[in-house]
Order: sequence, then structure tokens, then C-alpha cells
Amino acid sequence: MQLVIIAGGLGTRLRPLTLHRPKALVPLLNRPQILHALDRLPPTVDQVILAVNYMYEEVRDYFEARELEPEVIVVNEPEPLGTGGAIKNVEDRVSGTFAVCNGDVVDSFDLAAFASFHRKSGGIGSIAVWPVEDPMAFGVVALEGQRITRFVEKPSEGEAPSNLVNAGHYLFEPDVFDFIEEGRAVSLEREVFPKLIPRGLSAYRWQGYWSDAGTLPAYLHAQRLLLGAGEGGVSKDAEISRGEIRPPVLVAPGCFVEGRLGPFAVLGRGCKIGRGSIRNATLFDGVSMDDKVEIDSSIVGEGAAIGEGSLIRDSIVGDGVQVAPHSELIGARVAT
Ligand code: GDD
Ligand code: MG
Repeated sequence: MQLVIIAGGLGTRLRPLTLHRPKALVPLLNRPQILHALDRLPPTVDQVILAVNYMYEEVRDYFEARELEPEVIVVNEPEPLGTGGAIKNVEDRVSGTFAVCNGDVVDSFDLAAFASFHRKSGGIGSIAVWPVEDPMAFGVVALEGQRITRFVEKPSEGEAPSNLVNAGHYLFEPDVFDFIEEGRAVSLEREVFPKLIPRGLSAYRWQGYWSDAGTLPAYLHAQRLLLGAGEGGVSKDAEISRGEIRPPVLVAPGCFVEGRLGPFAVLGRGCKIGRGSIRNATLFDGVSMDDKVEIDSSIVGEGAAIGEGSLIRDSIVGDGVQVAPHSELIGARVAT
């Protein structure tokens, strides 16, 4: 079976990190985010097709330089075609029942169990759903038993028919291509799903964890889930001098830590951390942090330097940014 990963978005909600790198390659637990989607694939998946658009060359080069199992093919869209158009664009490469997933979800999904659910349901497609507290930022389903009777993308206040949201995993019969117009941008969620409902769309639920990772709060949620699932650890090639570790954390080789780390802190390679605190945050490779700095619920880009006495909260600091001493960044997006 083939898996198409829709991974061509601009990643605007993670800017400035996505100004110079494709969203698929934004590090999450020190690995390109998209690799988490490849982690748990069953052996029945023999080919992965990455449908990309924004920064196609960077994604292609990344995968060309690596031998992965299963094989990963990176397909470009000349223009952004939306989530539906991205699937239509790979029609010629797909045969039989195929799987699709959004490139920015992080979860404990079991595609083999989903495939056997889909076979039994007998419809044109199946959508995996997950319960959330506030469904407004997602696609929401109304159900009769397992049958989807309505699909509402990003409902407004009071309009969500349930709290079960589209988790971004689908299985489709090849007939689905007949429902996607060629040559223009098509939203799978807004335009195609409503048309598929009369042909049988079923909702699949599973146990474990799930998060989107495409906004700062969602990214940090995904990071907490992965660290909570045991994907952390401190490299033996890192030096925790006087530092204090509150697990779970992930510390890459070459880090030097004097401050308080965690819970839920991730350090990329070669970070130099002075006497301050970092929690619920990620620092990409080569970040330096002076003393008396507090970093909370934030992402700090590659090679950034944080001056003494600064407070960084709910913020994204871009690659290479120099934050002056005693700065206060709250809810900020800072680029060089
Ligand atoms: N190739 C390609 N081309 N990919 C695209 C395009 C495009 O034009 N537009 C978006 N994508 C990719 C994104 O990179 C992402 O991996 C996926 O499609 C979903 O797009 P997002 O922009 O992240 O959508 P969302 O998070 O607001 O909503 C979607 O995901 C939710 C679950 O996380 C929808 O599918 C919702 O219904 C769903 O609940
Ligand atoms: Mg998303």
C-alpha cells in the first residue's frame, strides 16, 4: 500500500522558522518533523509519496541524500494545489486503496489497524478522528454510528457538530480521484469530503495520543507527548555541569548545561546553557543562553544567542537572532 503525505504547506504559523526551511524539516525532538510520520509505518506500506510545494528542492535534497525504508518519493506541485489538489497531483503514481496523512501531525497512530477498519467499512474513504476540547481549529465530524454524516472544516463558535476532529489520516479507494477537479487548488476538507459522504465515509477512533504540530502551542503539545512517550534522554556526550535536569528532557551531544532544564525541554546539538531555566521549550542546534535567562513555552532557532537576564515566553525566536541582555519577549515572533 502507498502512503501519500501532504506536506506542502507554507508553515506560516511557525514563522520565522519556516522562512528558510520547509515545514516538513522543522526539527521536532531534534529530527525533521516529517520523520515522525514515518516512524510507525507497518511493513504493508511499500512506498511513501511526499506531496510538497513550498521549498520543494530542500525536501527533495534531504530525502535524496538518505536511503530510507520504505522508499520516499518527493513530488512537486507547480503551484500550491491545496490538500485535495495535492492528492490529485499524484493520481498517476497511485494504485489501489491508498493511505494519506497530513505531514504535521504527531501521534501513536496504527495504520495497519486503520486499514483493516477501512476494509470492513466498505465505503469510499475513512477518516481517523480524535476528541479535543476545542474543535474550532480543526475539521469536525457528525456521526451516526461510525458513518460520517457531516464534515465541517474550522467551524465557527457554536457550529461544531461534535468534539471529534479530523486527525489528518485517511484511507481512500481510487474512485476518490473522480471527486477532485484537476488543475486548480482544491480543499480536501471543504470541497471533497462533503461530496464523499453519500459514497460512504467512516470515522475511525484509536487509543494513545495525537497532536497537530503546526502552531507554537500545538508544536509544544506534540513535543510533550513525544517526551512523555519516552522519546527523551540526555546524550552521554553532553555535559551537565551544575545543571539540574527535571525529566522528561532531550539533550543532544555537545551541549553544556549549567541551568535548570525541564520538564519538557529539548536542546539541539552544541547548545551552551548558562544558569537560568528552560521548560516546555525547544532550542535548536547551537543556541547559546547567558545566565539568569528564563525560557518558557517557546522555540529558539538555530544559532540564536540569548543575552543575560532575558525572559522569553510563548515566543518564536528565529535562527541566528541575537537577543539583547534583559530583553522581555512575550508572545513574540523575532527574526534577524
Ligand atoms: N502539497 C501541499 N499543497 N500540501 C499542503 C497544501 C498545498 O497546497 N496546503 C496544506 N498542505 C499540507 C500542510 O503542510 C499540512 O501538512 C497539511 O496539508 C494540512 O494543512 P494545514 O495547513 O496544517 O491544515 P490545518 O492544520 O489547519 O487543518 C488540517 O489538519 C487538521 C488536523 O491537524 C485539516 O485537515 C483539518 O481538518 C484537521 O483537523
Ligand atoms: Mg496543521
